[in-house]
Amino acid sequence: MKSAQVWRLGMKDMQMVPASRQRGHLKKPTWIIILVSLVSIFLVLAYVYPPQNFAACYVLSSNGCEAISNWLPPEPARELTDDEIASRVVIRDILKTAPIVSNNSKIAFLFLIPGALPFEMLWDKFFQGHEGRFSVYVHASKDKPVHFSRYFINREIRSDKVVWGKISMVDAERRLLTNALKDPANQHFVLLSDSCIPLHDFDYVYNYLMYTNISFVDCFEDPGPHGSGRYSEHMLPEVEKKDFRKGAQWFTMKRQHAIIIVADSLYYTKFRDYCKPGMDGRNCYSDEHYLPTFFHMLDPAGIANWSVTHVDWSEGKWHPKSYQSQDITYELMRNISSIADSVHVTSDERKEIQIRPCLWNGNQRPCYLFARKFLPETLDKLMLLFPNYTSI
Ligand SMILES: *[C@@H]1O[C@H](CO)[C@@H](O)[C@H](O)[C@H]1NC(C)=O
Ligand SMILES: *[C@@H]1O[C@H](CO)[C@@H](O)[C@H](O)[C@H]1NC(C)=O
Ligand SMILES: *[C@@H]1O[C@H](CO)[C@@H](O)[C@H](O)[C@H]1NC(C)=O
Ligand SMILES: *[C@@H]1O[C@H](CO)[C@@H](O)[C@H](O)[C@H]1NC(C)=O
Ligand SMILES: *[C@@H]1O[C@H](CO)[C@@H](O)[C@H](O)[C@H]1NC(C)=O
Repeated sequence: MKSAQVWRLGMKDMQMVPASRQRGHLKKPTWIIILVSLVSIFLVLAYVYPPQNFAACYVLSSNGCEAISNWLPPEPARELTDDEIASRVVIRDILKTAPIVSNNSKIAFLFLIPGALPFEMLWDKFFQGHEGRFSVYVHASKDKPVHFSRYFINREIRSDKVVWGKISMVDAERRLLTNALKDPANQHFVLLSDSCIPLHDFDYVYNYLMYTNISFVDCFEDPGPHGSGRYSEHMLPEVEKKDFRKGAQWFTMKRQHAIIIVADSLYYTKFRDYCKPGMDGRNCYSDEHYLPTFFHMLDPAGIANWSVTHVDWSEGKWHPKSYQSQDITYELMRNISSIADSVHVTSDERKEIQIRPCLWNGNQRPCYLFARKFLPETLDKLMLLFPNYTSI
């Protein structure tokens, strides 16, 4: 609508401009031909260069951009390769199976840690009394942790080295999912780090994750250098730039989604080979792009588009805020637990802020079940506050 008005205004301006001497010499049909040619060139350019790359979209508003793409014929569908067809057929069938939620269903808590687990006693408190409704898996990539809690003893899986930002991070996530899938009672899977803490009590978390049909995988479109700027055309034809998405690594997912991630080799290989630090002079991190892009392409309605693990980026540094002992108050915990909108900020010069309500089965609810990054020194205060803040 907006661009149509702009266009009409343009026409009007042209009619009102007093004809200059030069223009006066041009006859009416010439003008029409020039006008029609300009419009055609514009449309051809808009078609050849997809709207997000087209400079005119930045000149016009983003609404104008949508309006332009609406005028254009739909892009011809690409012919899928044999591997893509095979992937899609298998994925579609797995997604068709209905989730089985029974009173035996368990949530698998997957701890992806270097070595120590500073909040083990807090998690112990969280799990107490809920035996049979959860299982714990620990992937310790550096040192074997010493456990104090019976819920963590002998729960380590065979692990391998993890290098920050490299594919080994995704490999560790897949290894955790694979091990947890061995138990058919595990119906939902939660990825956690050593600096993560629970924000609610066990029943709240269990019901939040179990009684919905979606996975909480973070996903948004970032046209900036830390989003689509990391895309490499080597990923073609399977992964197109328009489908490239970004999101925080900390997911929760239902069993069907865990199965398709473990089964996927086609898209995983593309990210392993072409989304890595130093690729074509850019840094791409598979742990921030593989899952968001994969689910955006193959089951967009099956994910929430936000992560249930809170993190505070508001300081605008390279790393998120790390909470210290002096930061831990009942008020802080209550604040984090009651946030009910998810926020994404693009990394381009516009720094567009996207705020969306967190909808759980259609109703707005608090977004977060877990939070990071908490320094080990916060443990004592959190243990004291735990029964209070988790009962909000
Ligand atoms: C779990 O479900 C089974 C059958 O569905 C039932 O027999 C059993 O009593 C239930 N257990 C609990 C603890 O509710
Ligand atoms: C989830 O899906 C199952 C089967 O498709 C359905 O029976 C159930 O009502 C759904 N649950 C929610 C919360 O949408
Ligand atoms: C997540 O975003 C996709 C668009 O990328 C949308 O189709 C989907 O409905 C969203 N998920 C939910 C639960 O709203
Ligand atoms: C909690 O939120 C309120 C309202 O947004 C804010 O004024 C206050 O500073 C916050 N407190 C903490 C400890 O974050
Ligand atoms: C936590 O709750 C208990 C019981 O309601 C109360 O006595 C205590 O003061 C609370 N602690 C804090 C730090 O709010």
